[in-house]
Amino acid sequence: MNRVAVVTGAARGIGAATVRGLAAAGWAVVAVDRASDDPRLAYPMGSEGQLHAVVASALAVTTGTMTASAGSDRIVAHVADTTDEEALGAAVALAEDRFGGLDAMVAVAGVIAGGVPLWEMPGDQLGAVLGVDLGGPITAARVGIPGLLRRPAPRQGRFLAVASAAATGGMPGLAAYGAAKAGVAGLVRGLAVDLADTGVTANAVSPGSTATAMLDESARLYGLEDTRPFADQQPIKRLLTPEEVAAALVWLAGVDSGALTGAVIPVDGGLSL
Ligand SMILES: NC(=O)c1ccc[n+]([C@@H]2O[C@H](COP(=O)([O-])OP(=O)(O)OC[C@H]3O[C@@H](n4cnc5c(N)ncnc54)[C@H](O)[C@@H]3O)[C@@H](O)[C@H]2O)c1
Repeated sequence: MNRVAVVTGAARGIGAATVRGLAAAGWAVVAVDRASDDPRLAYPMGSEGQLHAVVASALAVTTGTMTASAGSDRIVAHVADTTDEEALGAAVALAEDRFGGLDAMVAVAGVIAGGVPLWEMPGDQLGAVLGVDLGGPITAARVGIPGLLRRPAPRQGRFLAVASAAATGGMPGLAAYGAAKAGVAGLVRGLAVDLADTGVTANAVSPGSTATAMLDESARLYGLEDTRPFADQQPIKRLLTPEEVAAALVWLAGVDSGALTGAVIPVDGGLSL
């Protein structure tokens, strides 16, 4: 049986790499992104064009050709804001209607803002960080887990979220982001206990500095010319690629990870050591 995933934040970065990684592993995927800018934030979000390009590249991986083959629909795009329960619920419904069920809900979408102490952060940016980075995974759990549980037992369902090294280590000017990401760690621990012996697990990965548009924005927030200082900070002395973080998510989504639940796995080049 083909496994089926919903992945949020799919237009670029770690989410896009996760869609491609799952496609290569034979999954059917609903690739979700808001695909429009967030007026509360100072940097662009992924676009609808990028989301469709990710779907096309994932289909190419699936079919082994450079272009999507006609009639192949195993990877589909769905525009939704991950904080909108109805819109994200429609992505779950699409997975179930089109592909017959849901095996993994993968909450990757996230945003960054800050660069100043919390008490100086504009309220709308604070709302965006807490709403998207913590509220998004909570919404994904609320609409995704019932879908995972609709698979008949014995099942191998996976709820996955992306936290951050900022969940455990204090980072200057990122108190709100760190609070949201620490909340994600608490979320998967609580879900793991609630899910108990259902066959559905809940886990998170905590990436270190990964070469994406979000890291470019982090450099800008710190007044850095580029992201090189983030590489120097990590014991492996380089940035991670989105594909390296996605590889951990793809493994966690699979049936071999059943012994892990409530875990927050550092995928961070040693940053948290
Ligand atoms: N890049 C890093 O160094 C790093 C480090 C630690 C954790 N993370 C986390 O990894 C995840 C992915 O980050 P990335 O670096 O790939 O970022 P990115 O900015 O490159 O991609 C994020 C994607 O999420 C989408 N998105 C944002 N808000 C959304 C919403 N409300 N609804 C739906 N889609 C939304 C954006 O449009 C974008 O396509 C985030 O949760 C981030 O906090 C990233």
